[in-house]
Amino acid sequence: MDILIGLQWGDEGKGKIIDLICQNYDIVARFNGGANAGHTIYYKEKKVTLNLISSGIFFPETTNILGTGVALDPIILNEEILKLKSIDSKLKPEEKIIISEKAHLVLPTYKYFDQYYEESSHYPTIDTTKMGIAHTYSNKMLRSNPRVADIFSPDFKNDIEKTLFRQHNELSSFGKEIPEFKGMLEEYFKALDFLKKLNIQNTEFIINKAIKEGKKVLAEGAQATMLDIDYGTYPYVTSSSTIAAGACTGLGVSPRNINKIFGVTKAYCTRVGKGVFPTEINGEIADELREKGNEYGSNTNRPRRIGWLDIPALKYAIMINGITNIAITKMDILNGMDMIQVCTGYEIDGEIRDIASLDLQRVNSKPVFKDFNGWNKNFSDILDETSFPLELKQFIDFLESQLGVPVKYISTGPKREQVVICY
Ligand code: GTP
Repeated sequence: MDILIGLQWGDEGKGKIIDLICQNYDIVARFNGGANAGHTIYYKEKKVTLNLISSGIFFPETTNILGTGVALDPIILNEEILKLKSIDSKLKPEEKIIISEKAHLVLPTYKYFDQYYEESSHYPTIDTTKMGIAHTYSNKMLRSNPRVADIFSPDFKNDIEKTLFRQHNELSSFGKEIPEFKGMLEEYFKALDFLKKLNIQNTEFIINKAIKEGKKVLAEGAQATMLDIDYGTYPYVTSSSTIAAGACTGLGVSPRNINKIFGVTKAYCTRVGKGVFPTEINGEIADELREKGNEYGSNTNRPRRIGWLDIPALKYAIMINGITNIAITKMDILNGMDMIQVCTGYEIDGEIRDIASLDLQRVNSKPVFKDFNGWNKNFSDILDETSFPLELKQFIDFLESQLGVPVKYISTGPKREQVVICY
């Protein structure tokens, strides 16, 4: 099994790279997160955002698995399937999706709990998507959350009605505004009836059998390493395991079966919401990158924070994940800049460190930057590495020498064909 994950704080353009390599795989499987992810893919010249379903859905022969580590919102899954069918009736998503019976369900009250906790002064404000994902994983850890297989139990609807009623009252007692109970329940039951008709299985057996038969499986990560619940910039992180090891637990695959691990990074850096961001820049250059790169939150449209590429943070992500191949996206956004900077280390107490857990940012530290000359080139002329301007070549050579991992893909635009495959 191969794995693809983000190396920064998300929104690296993983969707574009997954779409590019998907056709080489028999199975593409999501292993973490829920509808708080949002891969953007161009299908038949149309921009499509996928929140839950894995990106292999656009390929006729690819099986798409929603694995055990996923927080599954049946309402959003239902909507996403209908959206895909309206884009192209030949896509037939229901026939190409397999859902883990062990995946945890998101209940319709959870997004209001997420909102409540974000608004309450007793909890940190993380700036999450407030889609009920944190509440799902919290209840999973409390061993009190329903799983997909539970929907087949004859008592399930009764039990869920009682749970939702209790939670609805609880939220109202907090003073939280919440839609009326009956409508909420009806919408959820409708989505559960839809879910029941889908292909729900023991996906760990399907994936392991496929691996044994020599089929190719790609584990598709959502969010990114620096947002990992354990190794990200806690507490400003997501609530699931976003790293390569998370693919093993999220899909039920042994680490012995992992081959390539693709890491995706932008040619610069962005971050949504609060938290450590050592290479952050403000002012004209940040504004220019934000506009050119359309760096606005896909759910909230909030401007993303902008920074230069951070080598120590990338080295950390490469170490944690065991990255074997790097994909750099949004190289076209740096085109036309006079000067480009890369952070090569952090100065901490007078000492330069070139690899650091970002927790170190809690103490006084200053990024150390190396300057590169920019380049200006019509990117539609770039078909392979030989047509790179010298400055771009120097930039990539430097990154490879620092990171110690070869760059396999350089993305030069949002479309599938806008990419240079280096080897
Ligand atoms: P998360 O899972 O939410 O982190 O998303 P993601 O990493 O899959 O990022 P997403 O697919 O949302 O990509 C961000 C945006 O960048 C999308 O609009 C892509 O179409 C776009 N994009 C991807 N690669 C490139 C590129 O090389 N150049 C340009 N200009 N845009 C790109």
